This record gives sequence, C-alpha cells and structure tokens, in this order.
Amino acid sequence: MLIFHVVGARPNFMKVAPVMAALGEQGRVEQRLVHTGQHYDANMSEIFIRQLGLPEPDVNLEVGSGSHAVQTAEIMMRLEEMLLLQRPDWVLVYGDVNSTAAASLVCAKLLIPVAHVEAGLRSFDRTMPEEINRLVTDQLASLLFTPSSDGNENLLREGIPPSKVHLVGNVMIDTLVRLLPKAEERWDALRKELGLASYGLVTLHRPSNVDEPAKFRPILTALEDIGQHLPLVFPLHPRTRQRMAAHGIAPASAHLHLVEPLGYLDFLALQHHARLVITDSGGVQEESTFLGVPCLTVRENTERPITMTLGTNTLVGEDMALLRREAGHILAGQGKKGADIPLWDGQAGRRIADVLAPR
Ligand code: UD1
Ligand code: UDP
Repeated sequence: MLIFHVVGARPNFMKVAPVMAALGEQGRVEQRLVHTGQHYDANMSEIFIRQLGLPEPDVNLEVGSGSHAVQTAEIMMRLEEMLLLQRPDWVLVYGDVNSTAAASLVCAKLLIPVAHVEAGLRSFDRTMPEEINRLVTDQLASLLFTPSSDGNENLLREGIPPSKVHLVGNVMIDTLVRLLPKAEERWDALRKELGLASYGLVTLHRPSNVDEPAKFRPILTALEDIGQHLPLVFPLHPRTRQRMAAHGIAPASAHLHLVEPLGYLDFLALQHHARLVITDSGGVQEESTFLGVPCLTVRENTERPITMTLGTNTLVGEDMALLRREAGHILAGQGKKGADIPLWDGQAGRRIADVLAPR
C-alpha cells in the first residue's frame, strides 16, 4: 500500500509524525512525505522535521506565501502534476490549513481517496479561513479521524456516513507525550537563559487578532498590563511580526519578551512550566489542557470545545477587561485545573494505522 502524507504549515508536523511512525511499524506500507512549502522559514518548518524525527520530505512543492486563492491554487497545480505521475492508494491530510483543503480538492477530482486527520472540528465561524478548510476537507474525505466525540457529532449532523468516521484521539498529544521527556531535558538550560523565575507564555497569529491595528493594539496593551504582574514570553509568528512592522507597532514594555518562533522542544518546555498561557492557537489550547496549564484564548469561539468543558481553557474573546481579570484569577491560584480527556493518551497514531492498514 502506498500512502502520501501532505503537510505544509507548522502544526501539521506535530500531527503527521505519530501517524507516519505508527504506519511504519505496521509493515507493508510505503510512505511519502509531501511538503507543500506553505511554511518555509527554518524555524517554521525545518526545525520541526529535525526535532520530531520526521524523514526529509520526499518532495517540497515550494508554494510559499500568497493570498488564499493564490496559495491554494499553487498547491493544487503542483500537487496534481505530481499525483498524475505517481498514484498513491491513500492521501492523508492534517488539520485545517490551506494545504489540507487544497490537497483534498486535488485528490477528490483524481479519485484518490483522502483520509482527514483531525476531522470534525467546528468553530461555526465561517469568517475563519480554517473553518472553510475544515468543511471542504470533511465533505471530500473518504475516512475521517476525529480527536474527540464532538467531532463525530458535528460530522453526523452534516450527513457524513458514520461508517467513514473513526474516533481515534489527538495526534498532537501523541507527539507531546513522546517528546515531553526530551523537552524537559532542556529545561534547566532554558530557564537559566530566560532568567525569569515565573512567566506566562503568549502566542497570537490569527488574522482576526493581528492583522488590524485596531484589534491588535488593545490586546498588546492588555498584555503589557498583565506583564506588570507576570512577565510574558511571546514568540512572534511571522505573520504577527510582519503586521507589527507594517503598522509600526513596537511594544516597549520590559515585561513583554518578544522572541523568534521557537522550536518544538523549547516551546513545549516553556509551556509546561508557564503559570499561564494566552493564545489564539488551536494546538496550544490542546497542549495547555493536556499539561494542566491554565489557558486564556483570545477568540470568540473555539473548534476545540472540549478544552473548555474538560480542560484548562477559557475564552475571553475581544474583551480585554476579561483577559486582565481572568489572568488575575489564575495568578491568585484560581485557574482551571482540568481533567484527562478520553483518548488523548499518546496512541492516536496507532489507532489510525490500525484502521488504514490493519495488521
Ligand atoms: C497558517 C494557517 C493557520 C495556522 C497557521 C499555523 C491557513 C489559512 N492558515 O496561518 O490555520 O494556524 O498557519 O502557524 O492555512 N510567513 C513567513 N514565513 C513562513 C510562513 C509564513 O514569513 O515560513 C509569513 C508570510 O508573510 C505570510 C504570512 O506569514 O504571508 C502568513 O502565512 P500563511 O501560511 O498564509 O498563514 P498563517 O498565518 O501562517
Ligand atoms: N509551537 C512551537 N513554537 C512556537 C509556537 C508554537 O513549536 O513558537 C507549536 C505548539 O507547541 C503546537 C503548534 O506549534 O504544537 C501549534 O501551531 P500553531 O499555533 O502555529 O498553529 P495552530 O495550532 O493554531 O493551527
């Protein structure tokens, strides 16, 4: 059996790694890793391939950045050319980025079956580009692997036959479980380098938060205020850095430590030891829940509601007074503690391999 995995953006790497590893152990499966090149900076791509122990991609389509239409179209054109020459039995796609939807569209037209890893998540907010990618991908996929039962409910409601849907758990947590001990080995050196006894960790990259200064400035002001009580470490996503430069935004507060995007191991260690996390990332909402670190999500909604109901996540939306208040609660020891989430146990990749290529 020949399986292609299509990845392109930072969070895809954490998701593909456990699936490739589990399929590799199954035997009889030949695999190829296709990188679309959606993310291309070394600290958004290459560092993850190395730290996660992924094989070098068999091909990099090098599509780079562009508008949604341009990026999606470039991926489609370059991937189609490749798939016409080499026809896999399955193409696996991950998460909700443009690479995911583009690959699904190409395969659907070439009648190559697609399996979607992290299917069924819904924010019910179609102003989010990711929600469009999720809807399209799930309609086109022949196999849908969900991380939590809300995903199954969403897919059933949309008329996806239950026989296509498999609740397997969270592949991103597989990677975390595997690499947390390795991340911890770096903690002593990292702590010394950081020089902070206690800190919060921030990531922000959603267009709805960072693209418009009218949205982004109040968030930064709130972060500066919270920083008076707890220093904040803020690895800047390239989109965020670029928007800050374009709009001449440069926070001067000594309590807000702006750094380059971090490798997976350092970011994981920092997240594990943080007093709180402030984010708009999908993956970070999940990881902080697993690690038991209180998380404040700067969004009006989440496609990962289980992180709120069972986990440590709280949505603050655009309400910066609420963000300050909730941060205060956490610092007073009243943050959410969270509970274990079913099937977020490090075995999701194996469950996927068992469906695709039973022993
Ligand atoms: C993409 C995904 C988003 C995901 C995020 C993970 C879509 C629609 N969005 O958002 O769901 O949460 O990745 O990080 O697929 N850039 C660089 N270097 C890079 C990559 C990007 O400088 O290696 C800059 C470019 O200026 C680019 C901008 O970041 O225009 C945005 O990149 P893009 O891939 O379009 O979207 P993200 O915001 O990264
Ligand atoms: N991450 C990282 N370095 C950083 C920021 C995030 O390694 O500087 C990791 C994080 O631990 C998680 C993933 O990147 O595994 C989340 O990706 P991102 O926030 O870019 O995308 P999203 O999950 O929102 O789609």
